[in-house]
Amino acid sequence: MLLNYYKERESYINDGTIMLNQHNNIFTQTELQNLEKLADQLPFEHVEIGDADEPNYLEVGRLITDIDKPKIVNQTISKQVIGIVSSKEKMEFYKFLLDKPELHIRRMQYNVMAENCFVGLHLDTDSNPDYLVACVVQLGGNFIGGDYVVYGGGIPPRSLSPTKFSVIFSNCKYEHEVTKVKSGMRKSLVFFLSTNNGKNSRIRE
Ligand SMILES: [Fe+2]
Repeated sequence: MLLNYYKERESYINDGTIMLNQHNNIFTQTELQNLEKLADQLPFEHVEIGDADEPNYLEVGRLITDIDKPKIVNQTISKQVIGIVSSKEKMEFYKFLLDKPELHIRRMQYNVMAENCFVGLHLDTDSNPDYLVACVVQLGGNFIGGDYVVYGGGIPPRSLSPTKFSVIFSNCKYEHEVTKVKSGMRKSLVFFLSTNNGKNSRIRE
């Protein structure tokens, strides 16, 4: 499987971000359908300020929190979701993409954005300096707006319009935002990978 993705890895290294579409994907259709079914059952909280104090406006379902260290919450649903996204095959892909011998999922959440929702410009490493990549699995496709825009790296901004069941991998050292959803419902499962599985190094003694 990995041999098919050398080009994508090169793009990731050059641009800091890639998007795999529904048909060129590490997840099967059944897995993606199951992820959507499971995530839709999570309880939601309304969020207006992000971890980096950036303005946000969206509903968030929690699967793994990373306040001082990773903690699985809403376990009945979350353990099934984690089983899908961290299967042996998926972990091999993440390690290949990042060229790391070992990786851990540190944080996972489900972001649901209705009309006028957005995520302000931020750096994921402000939440945890050890985050390497954000994986964004797009589980809803019936929306307009809500582009994922990545800045930095000495090249022009890259704007991705996520389609249903696409997956974005985005380097956590690059600033990014999600533009306002103009209509419909944008639903994405987001998780962060790191080589560190211990204490959140943002927290100082
Ligand atoms: Fe982010």
